[in-house]
Amino acid sequence: MTDAIALTIHARDGAARTGALLTPRGDIRTPAFMPVGTAATVKAMRPEDVRATGADIVLSNTYHLMLAPGAERIARLGGLHRFMNWPRPILTDSGGFQVMSLAKLRKINGNGVIFQSHIDGSRHELTPERSMEIQRLLGADIQMQMDECVKLPCPPEEAERAMRLSLRWAERSKAAFGDDQPGRALFGIVQGGVERTLRIESARALVGMDFHGYAIGGLAVGEPQADMLATIEAVIPHLPDTKPRYLMGVGTPDDLLQSLRRGVDMFDCVMPTRAGRHGMVFTRAGRLNLRNARFADDSRPVDPLSTSAMARDYSRAYFRHLVKAGEILAMMALTEINLAYYQDLMAGARSAIGEGRLDAYIEETRRGWAEGEA
Ligand code: GUN
Repeated sequence: MTDAIALTIHARDGAARTGALLTPRGDIRTPAFMPVGTAATVKAMRPEDVRATGADIVLSNTYHLMLAPGAERIARLGGLHRFMNWPRPILTDSGGFQVMSLAKLRKINGNGVIFQSHIDGSRHELTPERSMEIQRLLGADIQMQMDECVKLPCPPEEAERAMRLSLRWAERSKAAFGDDQPGRALFGIVQGGVERTLRIESARALVGMDFHGYAIGGLAVGEPQADMLATIEAVIPHLPDTKPRYLMGVGTPDDLLQSLRRGVDMFDCVMPTRAGRHGMVFTRAGRLNLRNARFADDSRPVDPLSTSAMARDYSRAYFRHLVKAGEILAMMALTEINLAYYQDLMAGARSAIGEGRLDAYIEETRRGWAEGEA
């Protein structure tokens, strides 16, 4: 495949690298964190505010958008970028993962997956071909192959079955993506549970099919962090150095630092946005649960060094009050603070890699969390 979306690497530090993914809709600085905008919105945030936190790209979902408002409707309305007023790059996940975690009465067969909508119970079928058609209708800049992700722990035979099915779906996804989408990219997804040999086989087979980028899926689904990191270490040497690597659905700030240190370029996770809606805030002094009574009289700002004014100009006591009262502003402010934290973490990692001091940066960052929690 020709490089629709090219990765340029500016600097390396060990296995880590920093650079940019160049796309017609703008550059994605790497390592990159992609906020999740499942239903054509990063919940509680206006697109301009998402951008102001430092995001270069957002993620959206085939599964949700096919159910409501429908991919054909979004295409008629000018595509997803115009629909949600986010002119920059969008990556869409392929749907299979969300079907397995959200839909009712789902049934996988070789062809695809049949399921009932979690919204109204209506019956749908998602195949690799339909997933690619939906992602094309949405106009996604980075599209994902359809795959099957198993929850861990699981028997090796089950991980192997899903990995082989995902490889067959990778071929069908690639054929359906076609060669008439200039400036758009298709990523394959490595599966195989925590079985090293399965992971390597999956990575090699996908690289043989030649995708624009490679995702590592099926992680942070119940396994310990050490197993996740060992799996990443096993897979990365089998992926091409010049192509982007994307760790799906991960994770905590520490997961991100440990993974980018091993050579991951891109991340997405609901954690900063979902946690923010539930009164949890990520700071340079660690994670604070603002529901906790110890913040009731705490007049300190949430995070004096944050790039988000909300974190500097309002007290922990005020946000605790808003959270307890169920005020909408709490969700908006904490989501923004959390996204700014994740983006600042990535910006810090990019500079540190550029200066060859990533390990020191990770250590300083972890020390800040530990001191805050002491
Ligand atoms: N999001 C988090 N993990 C996965 C995965 O394994 N596959 C897909 N398609 N999406 C994910």
